[in-house]
Amino acid sequence: MSTANTMRAISQDVLGGPEVLKEVEREIPKPGPSEVLVRVHAAGLNPTDWKHRAHGNFLKPPFVLGWDVSGVVEAVGLGVVIHEPGDEVFGMLPYPFGVGAHAEYVTAPARAFARKPAEVDHTQAGALPLAALTAWQALVDTADVRPGQRVLIHAAAGGVGHLAVQIAKARGAYVIGTASSGKHEFVRGLGADELIDYRETDFTEAVGDVDVVLDTVGGDYRSRSLRTLRPGGLLVTLLVSGTSELAEEAEGLGVRAVEMLVEADQTGMRAIAELVAEGKLRATVAEVFPLADAAKAHAAGDTGRTVGKLVLQVR
Ligand SMILES: NC(=O)c1ccc[n+]([C@@H]2O[C@H](COP(=O)([O-])OP(=O)(O)OC[C@H]3O[C@@H](n4cnc5c(N)ncnc54)[C@H](OP(=O)(O)O)[C@@H]3O)[C@@H](O)[C@H]2O)c1
Repeated sequence: MSTANTMRAISQDVLGGPEVLKEVEREIPKPGPSEVLVRVHAAGLNPTDWKHRAHGNFLKPPFVLGWDVSGVVEAVGLGVVIHEPGDEVFGMLPYPFGVGAHAEYVTAPARAFARKPAEVDHTQAGALPLAALTAWQALVDTADVRPGQRVLIHAAAGGVGHLAVQIAKARGAYVIGTASSGKHEFVRGLGADELIDYRETDFTEAVGDVDVVLDTVGGDYRSRSLRTLRPGGLLVTLLVSGTSELAEEAEGLGVRAVEMLVEADQTGMRAIAELVAEGKLRATVAEVFPLADAAKAHAAGDTGRTVGKLVLQVR
């Protein structure tokens, strides 16, 4: 139970399965200079949450996970002029070290947030930030996808993939997606032009002459995807190795490859808000869990079979 100065949060002291997640009581943080304090209404979950829970990656326990926020500004720190108490905002906390959205309140740089579009509720807005920013930064900032270009999106029914399909269509691209056949109707409904059942068909044989590949799978998909590109085409992979091997392999094939990590980004959040307001971008929310059931949400995410997004309802 939280009091006037305390809040509920989901924390862990050790790495492990969903059972390591515990509801704890914490002091409500205070916004520092150029920060805002946001009362979290909904917070999406992403594979990076279950990866950090299990393996730590960039973080050392104890920590509170969660990078996605939709909520209401409760207080502003020194010098903040772009938001004021009462504003409805959504955004991604700085990745990776600004983490902590799976709590009733969070502080973050004011410019991590943009105004939540009035057209959607907090659950919908909370599902978007990390996955939509990833898709936007990969397809628009990095690849500069243009009308008529052929874009291949792997795991097109997943959290990033289903938003990437919509963003690529909004840019006027011809979109090819990989997904198991049971999910084809869903992805077609988002606007995809062509779908490949990667379980039945080798995508490197089924698709070619691609301008941009968004790789959300990794492993041998990184190297195999290079074979689908037209000369000069670009692979953006989200599964980062920190080595130059893939870029070198791409160069040898006359194509390009980059490894990308998503960044907190108000310009990107504003672009996403605009697409949402125009009705061109919606998150499909597979399941909503109360904050106290974060472990159940992690268990669902752990399966790697989610269609769209999982969201924690905090308020
Ligand atoms: N670098 C970054 O900044 C960044 C940002 C965001 C995400 N990521 C990473 O990108 C990956 C995807 O994230 P996400 O949120 O989209 O995950 P997700 O929502 O958990 O993806 C689930 C989807 O992946 C599909 N899938 C699994 N294996 C597949 C395969 N071999 N081929 C095609 N589809 C496959 C599943 O469909 P089926 O049931 O049909 O297989 C399922 O619908 C994760 O590893 C995540 O950590 C990285």
